[in-house]
Amino acid sequence: MASLSTVLTLTLILSFLSLRVNAKQVIIPEDGYTVSTIFDGHKPHIYPFTLLQRPSSSDLILLDSVNSTFYTAQLPISQETVFTRLSGDGSVGYFDGDVGSARFSKPRSFALDFKGNLYVADKTNNAIRKISAKGVTTIAGGGFSEKSSTKDGPALNASFSDDFDVTFIPGLCALLVSDHMHQLVRQINLKEEDCTLGSKSGLGAVMTWTLALGLSCLLGLIIGFAVRPYIIRNTERLQPLPFHRDMEALPNQSGEASDDALLRREKRNC
Ligand SMILES: *[C@@H]1O[C@H](CO)[C@@H](O)[C@H](O)[C@H]1NC(C)=O
Ligand SMILES: *[C@@H]1O[C@H](CO)[C@@H](O)[C@H](O)[C@H]1NC(C)=O
Repeated sequence: MASLSTVLTLTLILSFLSLRVNAKQVIIPEDGYTVSTIFDGHKPHIYPFTLLQRPSSSDLILLDSVNSTFYTAQLPISQETVFTRLSGDGSVGYFDGDVGSARFSKPRSFALDFKGNLYVADKTNNAIRKISAKGVTTIAGGGFSEKSSTKDGPALNASFSDDFDVTFIPGLCALLVSDHMHQLVRQINLKEEDCTLGSKSGLGAVMTWTLALGLSCLLGLIIGFAVRPYIIRNTERLQPLPFHRDMEALPNQSGEASDDALLRREKRNC
């Protein structure tokens, strides 16, 4: 009798376990999120592929991999937002130099350092290109290297496949390259000054984003100073959490909640 019930229990446990193992998917819904379309690329013929916010600014950068073109727009994005062409002219090619007339070949991703420079995984040029205020340059692979090998060393002579992505890793002050085709992770050390948060750069002279950054930093500072005496009186010292709560309680500066949230985020980065 005892052995029968043991067998039954075991069978039950086993069938339960096998059910769990054989399950094709496990879905645990977590409610509370909303999806909304904020931009439709059909009319301007833009194919959004990768999106990143420029650090310490309200500048959104969009990569259209289909047309090998980069666009910028000011956050927050809405249907009325106009994306301005930053680099690439819709044609596939390999032109360094002037930001406005440079060409790329099906770039598939890009990374941003703290200074706002873009590092482009320029896929079919097997190159990593840099877009800065000075223009577009090749920093690794590309013209001087063999195509699609795994050669390391001085970056301009190193080689990349045509299937890779780049990511900026602030802690290393480096780009990490995930070379899918070669199953490798490779590191390219960057210049120290490009990894310093809030560093003043020459970008401002040329590109509009620095203006936006300056304005938002200034606004943030003014708000900060207005709130400061209150915080010092009430808490004796500046604490990050109450500070941000007080910022949120301030009258809405722009009339838009998302603008306000952006400002707060930038304030922390100034
Ligand atoms: C992007 O490429 C598509 C397909 O070639 C083309 O129809 C479209 O006009 C291009 N968009 C822009 C903005 O050049
Ligand atoms: C890198 O490539 C250039 C151009 O082909 C060549 O002149 C140079 O000697 C190479 N340097 C190294 C370290 O291989």
